[in-house]
Amino acid sequence: MKLIYTGKTKNVYAVEDGNYLLKFKDDVTGENGVFDPGANTVGLTIEGAGRAGLKLTKHFFEVIKEKGIPTHYIDANIEEATMKVKAATVFGKGLEVICRYRGVGSFLKRYGGYVTEGQPLDAFVEVTLKDDGRQDPPITVDALEMLGILSKAEYEIIKDLTRKIAAIVKEELEKKSIELYDIKFEFGRDNCSGEVLLIDEISGGNMRAYKDGKYIEPLLLERLMLA
Ligand SMILES: Nc1ncnc2c1ncn2[C@@H]1O[C@H](COP(=O)(O)OP(=O)(O)O)[C@@H](O)[C@H]1O
Ligand SMILES: [Mg+2]
Repeated sequence: MKLIYTGKTKNVYAVEDGNYLLKFKDDVTGENGVFDPGANTVGLTIEGAGRAGLKLTKHFFEVIKEKGIPTHYIDANIEEATMKVKAATVFGKGLEVICRYRGVGSFLKRYGGYVTEGQPLDAFVEVTLKDDGRQDPPITVDALEMLGILSKAEYEIIKDLTRKIAAIVKEELEKKSIELYDIKFEFGRDNCSGEVLLIDEISGGNMRAYKDGKYIEPLLLERLMLA
């Protein structure tokens, strides 16, 4: 097994069979020792955070795969905090695709002159570049095409998949009376087939979830969802 990437919260290994192994670490993003899923730096270590994130990721990927959405998921080993996935190549240097049901977070920060906090949004999709040094800037479809990151046709495929996957996660959360405000995904091209796949993870750190109008932090979300 060869370490090919050291991420903020996971390490990526290449396995002999051509697949990748994602190792979920207990490192979480944040600033000054405070857990913040949106932060671009590792802020602290929480015992069991890796395994908790993997459990929720496993749950969502199994539901999503069941519904016929192409994903990188193969299997997971909770004890070892590892997930076996199909090897993929990200678009450009990596993108995050966000689906918004309510105007909060960076959307509210940017467009606060036009939306009120928590205003309902109709599964609005937007793309940001994974670029920690530039605070993950939002990017338009024209810029994605011009910079050779995605074609317009690929953008449409990803947008459609994003809406479908977000709706599945939203429905799962609703079973526990939890409301999904927004969620971010990553996509890549399957190294073998070239197919566009949902990759990475889907855990508490990838979404904003609320119960009775109160924000549910990632570790609590994992406990509520898998109880
Ligand atoms: N199936 C896959 N193939 C290739 N790369 C992947 C796959 N799934 C996830 N990744 C990448 O692996 C990395 C996971 O580690 P993470 O700690 O989340 O990194 P980051 O700090 O870049 O967010 C991410 O960069 C993600 O894009
Ligand atoms: Mg990540």
